[in-house]
Amino acid sequence: MKSVDVCLTHQDFDNYDHKGKIVVVIDVLRATSTINTLLFLGANHVKPVGSLEECKVLKEDDYIIMAERMGKKVEGFDYGNSPTKLKEENIKGKKIAIATSNGSKAIIKSEGSKRTILCSFLNIESVVNLIKKSESDVILLCSGWLGKTNLEDTLCAGGIVSGLDNFEIESDTALMAKALHNNTDDILETMKLSSHAKRLSGYDNKVDIEFCSRVNTQPIVPILNGNQIVLS
Ligand code: MLT
Repeated sequence: MKSVDVCLTHQDFDNYDHKGKIVVVIDVLRATSTINTLLFLGANHVKPVGSLEECKVLKEDDYIIMAERMGKKVEGFDYGNSPTKLKEENIKGKKIAIATSNGSKAIIKSEGSKRTILCSFLNIESVVNLIKKSESDVILLCSGWLGKTNLEDTLCAGGIVSGLDNFEIESDTALMAKALHNNTDDILETMKLSSHAKRLSGYDNKVDIEFCSRVNTQPIVPILNGNQIVLS
């Protein structure tokens, strides 16, 4: 029987053997929500980048460059990591490079998997439907925040575990994530309690929290193809 496991921060991922498995990267606030929105708006592809320097030089190769640190836009980049600041007329057909505090690093760490898929609440049902048809074990990789577990990624992972009713639950972290999700009546109200939602609200960015809670409003599935994220 196929199994599903949950890794609560990308720093813990070194303890997981992801070869031959599907890895689902989650960063609800906001990297995987933002990347889903970029592809939903018609971006050609999105390149996850580990460092600001590596991201900045891609401007010379006609990339739109996006960077976030501590939840804020980094000076000298075209955008930060806010999905609500993206407009189709500026994104459609474009190459995007993105460097965020946690999410882009988590995606890069998933390289070597059988398949890497990106998930947020914006496409959660599409991701569950795709995985249910697969024959592989799955690891849900929560990005977390600077090495700490966060509420929103764990909640999203729990939603995926709950949907994979034909999978064996592999670990206590998967049980915990599922219990969190199954005891949550209102995703937005729960997300608002998270430390990152409070951080973003402090930067006058409450709108992103509501946007990132809209379940399956962007029914697409981004996958990692080499070092580029494209539509499946
Ligand atoms: C991250 O990648 O760490 C988050 O997406 C940060 C953010 O966008 O605020």
